[in-house]
Parts: sequence; structure tokens; C-alpha cells
Amino acid sequence: MDSASEIQVKQQVRQFYDQVGWQEVGEGVYQNARFEDLRPVSREYIHNCHQRVGRHLSLEGKYFLDAGSGPIQYPEYLEYSIGYQARVCADISIVALQEARQRIGDRENGGHGLFVVADVAHLPFADRAFDGVASLHTIHHLPSSEHQQAYLGLFRVLAESRSAVVVNGWESSSISDIFVGPIKWGRRTRKRITRRLGKGSRASAASKNNAVSTFVNKHNAGWLKSEVGTLMNLDILVWRSVGVRFLKAYIHPNFGGKWLLRQLYWLEESFPHYMGEHGLYPLIILKKS
Ligand SMILES: C[S@@+](CC[C@H](N)C(=O)[O-])C[C@H]1O[C@@H](n2cnc3c(N)ncnc32)[C@H](O)[C@@H]1O
Repeated sequence: MDSASEIQVKQQVRQFYDQVGWQEVGEGVYQNARFEDLRPVSREYIHNCHQRVGRHLSLEGKYFLDAGSGPIQYPEYLEYSIGYQARVCADISIVALQEARQRIGDRENGGHGLFVVADVAHLPFADRAFDGVASLHTIHHLPSSEHQQAYLGLFRVLAESRSAVVVNGWESSSISDIFVGPIKWGRRTRKRITRRLGKGSRASAASKNNAVSTFVNKHNAGWLKSEVGTLMNLDILVWRSVGVRFLKAYIHPNFGGKWLLRQLYWLEESFPHYMGEHGLYPLIILKKS
């Protein structure tokens, strides 16, 4: 991808989040939350997975960097920086930062947020400026050629003896494929039948018009180890082994959904490295020592 296309990609991503992703569709709920399972049956599992990020971050420090902060959309996110003097929210979307300010406040009104429009692949901060760094679901919006640079930048701004946490989906997951394969097959079959019955064209045209998403580019564990793991000390654990498609298809309140998720969480806690590499969302720890 040449540099003109890379700039275009970023403009498109920014526009998407400004105009669609960070528009509220309900009280405190953004359009982007359609990528999350907000049902009560999944709440405990989702909450526990969010808590995993905090386990690997220093509890206190001066500056905490949230690279690609969005609006700090979930309450658990606020906890990561409670012990810090300031949380620097950096994002290319101005709407994200305006919303983040509403949530965390700035220093003038007793909050501890600082807000910077910045590109995660070109962080405008000094070396070792942050005692804690998190970048959640953001690097995948960069052109592939900038992923390594983004990891190097997060590592560069991290203080000595501290850790950064990156969460980013893999391009594929053997665990998720086992379960999601039948869902995809069912969907394809339904479409084929509807098309044969002549009912499909209008419905699919309507759903295409409503489709809203933006540029995403993901890698696998092999790429991460060879392109980033050779340059810094990193560890791959699990953040969440399954995605929303799995949750919505297999987890139901009346069919032991909560119990099933407790077993899944137990598996993830028991085999964090395996579930991290083969599940859908790894939790990547960059350690500076
Ligand atoms: C999927 S959202 C995740 C937001 C938040 N970290 C979370 O987990 O809820 C991705 C965020 O990254 C931001 N973003 C995308 N590309 C970026 C870039 N090159 N530099 C900084 N932020 C970026 C988007 O504007 C958006 O707010």
C-alpha cells in the first residue's frame, strides 16, 4: 500500500468513527457497541475478560496512555488508570475524545483525563513517558505496513520496568472456527434458499445499505512473534477466546448460558497461553525490563 493509500485509509477510519461508530444509539451506548454482547447472560463473562487487562498494568504511576481510547466506552476501562495522576487519551477521532472527556473529565473539573488527537503509529510523546500503556482494538485499523511500527511506538513510550497491554483480534481462530463454521454454513444455506424462493434481492439490498464498518487488517500469532517478538519482550495470553457471533449463537439464558460461560472462563484461566494463541482475542503484554 503506498503512502497516499495509507493516508486515505486513516481518513476513512476517522470519518467512520466520527460520523458512525461513536454516535450514541441509546443512553451511553454507541453504534460501535454492536460489536459487543451486552445481554445480561453474558455480562459476568464480558466483565471478567475486561478485568484481565488491569491485572498486567501497574496500579499507579504518573501518566497512563490509552492509545486509541475511543470514548472509554465501558466502566471497567476507567479502572485501569484510577491510580494514575493523568490518563492520556489519544485517538484520531475527535468525537471519541469529546466523549472520553465527558466520561473521565479533565483536570479543570476534577477528572484526570488529557486528550490528544494522535496517530497510534506515530505517537507524539517522549521516550519512557508512561508508567502504563493500553491499546485496545485499535492497531487492527492501521495499514499492515504500520503494525510493527505501532508496537515499537507503544514500547518506546513505556517507562522502564513497566508493562503495556495490547488487545487486538487475530485474523482467524481455530477454537472459534469450530463453532462459528456451522453458523456461517447455516447463514449461507438460508440465503441460498431465500434467493431460490425469490425473496432475497430486496432484503439483501436493504441490509447492504445499512452495512457500516471500516478498514480492518489483522495478523496471526506467527506474525506477531516473528515481526514484534524478536524486537521486544512479549507474552501472549488470552483476553477472550470467542467473539460476539459465538456468544449470540450459543449462549442463551434458558439453556445454561451463564454456566457455559463460567466453564469457558475457567478454561481460559487454566490455559491462558493456548487460549490466547488459538482463541479469537489475545491479550499481548509488552514488558520493559
Ligand atoms: C474499535 S475502537 C476501540 C476503542 C477503545 N479502545 C475500546 O476498546 O473501546 C478503535 C478506536 O481506535 C481509533 N483509531 C483508529 N485508527 C487510529 C489511529 N491510527 N490512531 C489512533 N487512533 C485510531 C478509532 O478512532 C477508535 O476510537
